[in-house]
Amino acid sequence: MFAVYADSFANSASDPLTGLVVGERPDPVVPEGWTTVTVKAASLNHHDLWSLRGVGLKAEALPMILGCDAAGIDADGNEVVVHSVISDPDWRGDETLDPRRSLLSERFQGTLADQVVVPKGNVIPKPASLSFEEAACLPTAWLTAYRMLFVQGDLKAGETVLVQGAGGGVATALIALARAGGLRVFATSRDEAKRAKALELGAHEVFESGARLPVKVDAVMETVGRATWSHSIRALRPGGRIVISGTTSGPNVDDAELTRIFFLQLSVVGSTMGSRAELAHLVTMLDATGLRPVIDRVLPMTEARAGFAAMAEGDIFGKVVFTR
Ligand SMILES: NC(=O)c1ccc[n+]([C@@H]2O[C@H](COP(=O)([O-])OP(=O)(O)OC[C@H]3O[C@@H](n4cnc5c(N)ncnc54)[C@H](OP(=O)(O)O)[C@@H]3O)[C@@H](O)[C@H]2O)c1
Repeated sequence: MFAVYADSFANSASDPLTGLVVGERPDPVVPEGWTTVTVKAASLNHHDLWSLRGVGLKAEALPMILGCDAAGIDADGNEVVVHSVISDPDWRGDETLDPRRSLLSERFQGTLADQVVVPKGNVIPKPASLSFEEAACLPTAWLTAYRMLFVQGDLKAGETVLVQGAGGGVATALIALARAGGLRVFATSRDEAKRAKALELGAHEVFESGARLPVKVDAVMETVGRATWSHSIRALRPGGRIVISGTTSGPNVDDAELTRIFFLQLSVVGSTMGSRAELAHLVTMLDATGLRPVIDRVLPMTEARAGFAAMAEGDIFGKVVFTR
């Protein structure tokens, strides 16, 4: 079948795409209790670039079909959204807390292909109101944003939140979901055009990365890491919280701001993906409200390399979606 996969890891820090292949892989074998989803649309995540750099993916797992996110048609003919967190069959409860859990494209083959196989419990009905392209944006970036804001961040309507790095897939989801959830939304971006788009998307105020904010915020949503960490800590009111799910600019901060963290009694909360139940709530929220993912571009999956390159250059606002 057609597939977009990692054949090797990048041999230089500057070009992550050296191991990317757009080609053919064998048809999947379907384990007992799993289902085959014929992929109609899949979206790209920074995770796919990390995989090409050998982060979170073992060499012995290569070649590995990339992609965490898909929407398509399952073996029974249902339109579905794929939940990417694969937990141990014996695990009960929040799958993100299973120490043996993995995301599609880490241990099991990913979604950038004609077909992907997943446990039957990992498909969620796709409402007719969502297109396949829109639904394909939800399982990673949008689910991560939902959990950061409303589960790990425990944010309530009327609170103020700062979203760092407005242009990304997670960041655009954070801005849109925070606005829909009744929050006052501040966002930063390095890029003036992206700041303008963030305002259109629902941010109340936008700022250059690192700029002083007019008021301290209740919570910061952090996915950038090294480049914004210090600013995130300094933006918080006493007792505020920072929710972190990524480190795009690197994990090794110059100053962890430990003194501020204890003196101002700040909380640092990690967040990773979300549970199947949270994905179902997110899907229902979009169906009920009309809120839709921000899609930067839709490309045929055969042109996946161009989408990867745009993400590697940071040249996107929202999600890159591939169709079959
Ligand atoms: N833990 C999880 O479950 C989970 C799930 C999804 C994603 N993630 C992680 O979250 C991060 C974002 O993922 P994504 O898919 O949204 O990636 P993306 O679409 O490539 O977004 C990257 C973002 O990083 C910002 N950025 C990059 N370098 C920066 C710098 N030097 N200074 C300031 N901002 C910078 C960009 O903001 P501007 O260009 O607007 O400044 C942009 O918003 C990745 O590290 C990813 O691995 C984690």
